[in-house]
Amino acid sequence: MTSAPSPSRNVADILVEALPYIRKFSGMTIVVKYGGHAMVDEQLREDFAQDITLLKFIGLNPVVVHGGGPQINQVLERMGIRPQFVRGMRMTDAVTMDVVEMVLGGKVNKSIVALINRHGGRAVGLSGKDGGLLQAEKLHIVKQDSADAPPEIIDPGLVGRVTRVDPEIILTLSQKGFIPVVAPVGTGPAGETFNINADLVASRIAMALSAGRLIYLTDVDGVLDGSGRLVSSIRAAEAEELIRGNVITGGMIPKIEYALEAVGSGVTKVPIINGRKRHALLLELFTDSGIGTEVTQ
Ligand code: ARG
Repeated sequence: MTSAPSPSRNVADILVEALPYIRKFSGMTIVVKYGGHAMVDEQLREDFAQDITLLKFIGLNPVVVHGGGPQINQVLERMGIRPQFVRGMRMTDAVTMDVVEMVLGGKVNKSIVALINRHGGRAVGLSGKDGGLLQAEKLHIVKQDSADAPPEIIDPGLVGRVTRVDPEIILTLSQKGFIPVVAPVGTGPAGETFNINADLVASRIAMALSAGRLIYLTDVDGVLDGSGRLVSSIRAAEAEELIRGNVITGGMIPKIEYALEAVGSGVTKVPIINGRKRHALLLELFTDSGIGTEVTQ
């Protein structure tokens, strides 16, 4: 015989705090950009797969878009190819593109799918090529080091930007109870394969689905204000001001820009949260204060 465990009052409080959100989120589409530490740390990977499965079972429609930069670099290096970047963008020649597609669409995508499935979710892996999900075209980067320097146009190779999203395949899978997991690779007008930034892909897919949330899992707490304090909630206009005032800098800038585009075209909120924290997704979605920075219109 075992004695009955007594769950604390705290546990009940937590569940009760979550109830209005569970009700509100029922049927809502949530696009999650999965990357960074949460994708490599064993424990965090398990937590993420559990969180996504839980979301599906309580009636949300999670869609996962993943990155995989470190995993691509590993394979490139094993092949004796040195990864090269300009402005954070991978220089993608034909051989590199093959590796990107194999690693993202094969290894990385399937390992996420398998992990979610092991926790009882039914995940299906896609790349942007499947069902014509992502149409892309070649991206050119304009680099200007100072105001009087002539702009330099950089050709990153097979790096694309999204021109069209056909979300039908995602809708079909979601409606049938599956969890779509998307590798950020798209097709060009002439059938080329393009490597596309996963933050951008997540934003475009969230827009096409009119998602209730686009959640960026990052390695930082969120947006910090001028004195380094976490900003819990920020409106589009305030975020633009922080970019102009150089308070938001570096890798956070493109994320915020994608977030602004998303909230500008129908996505309700874009939380940017720290994927290094265990169960970050649940804490953001089902508590009143959340744990990161939510960007709103
Ligand atoms: N859980 C609520 C939601 O997802 C509130 C989250 C608030 N988050 C924040 N970073 N201020 O809508």
